[in-house]
Amino acid sequence: MGQAPVVYGQSSRPPRGDYSRAQEDYTCAQNFAAYTAADHDTYHRLYQRQSAQLQGLASEAFIQALPLLGAKERIPRFDDVNERLYRATRWELVAVPGLIPEVPFFSLLANRKFPVTDWIRTPQEFDYIVEPDVFHDLFGHVPLLFNPVFADYVQRYGEGGLKAAGLGACEMLSRLYWYTIEFGLIREQGGLRAYGAGILSSRGELPYAVHSPEPQRLPLELERTMRTRYKIDTYQQTYFVIDSFEQLFELTAQDFAPIYERLRGQPEFAADAREPLPA
Ligand code: PHE
Ligand code: FE
Repeated sequence: MGQAPVVYGQSSRPPRGDYSRAQEDYTCAQNFAAYTAADHDTYHRLYQRQSAQLQGLASEAFIQALPLLGAKERIPRFDDVNERLYRATRWELVAVPGLIPEVPFFSLLANRKFPVTDWIRTPQEFDYIVEPDVFHDLFGHVPLLFNPVFADYVQRYGEGGLKAAGLGACEMLSRLYWYTIEFGLIREQGGLRAYGAGILSSRGELPYAVHSPEPQRLPLELERTMRTRYKIDTYQQTYFVIDSFEQLFELTAQDFAPIYERLRGQPEFAADAREPLPA
């Protein structure tokens, strides 16, 4: 696989990873030897800054599971995390060079393998990076894979992705990923908390998503979500809120094929559209 793949997402730049390291399924060995002292320090500083503001903003399940990533001082070895993760929910982390195409991505998730980018951002990108790096993928996504219900949801999403690929419905399904796994909010103990990895790994978006009066927050509704475009380079203008991971799992258990059928040809909602529900 010499060539960087064209991936989902709306970025026009080619991804930065070295895809010549990857196997057929896009996984590679975690290039642990490549990490410099500065890389580990970047991870440590990102971890410190973000873990300091989780209380009251992040989902309780996320806060509880975060220490299971291991020592915050160094980028963890994925195999070390796997010893704990596999025991908890039978998920495992696999290293990838960066974003990968949809179908291999769905296949990994359907097999309870979570792809984690192995490289880390440069110090210049400390506050913001468009592509996922090891900090976003590990810190943002992995703690909730220790939660049995959420872990099952992500596997089901992978299976649903393979099905959607056969139905030409990936764009609709990927919006559900975006507005749940990446940017989801959950109501907990009477308040809003973040469970989406894009929020949880962002210094600025975490307090914004939970507290700012600017964005719109709607209850998660399949059709509204699947019709809503999203921005990859600004804070979200719309968030969708769930009441529990059980609710998320149950809401998405139904067959999506008829929904895709119905939504085809229906108008989309802009990322900041204020109309609450489908017309
Ligand atoms: N139920 C969905 C389908 O039939 C699959 C799915 C499950 C998608 C969970 C996303 C999340 O396509
Ligand atoms: Fe992500």
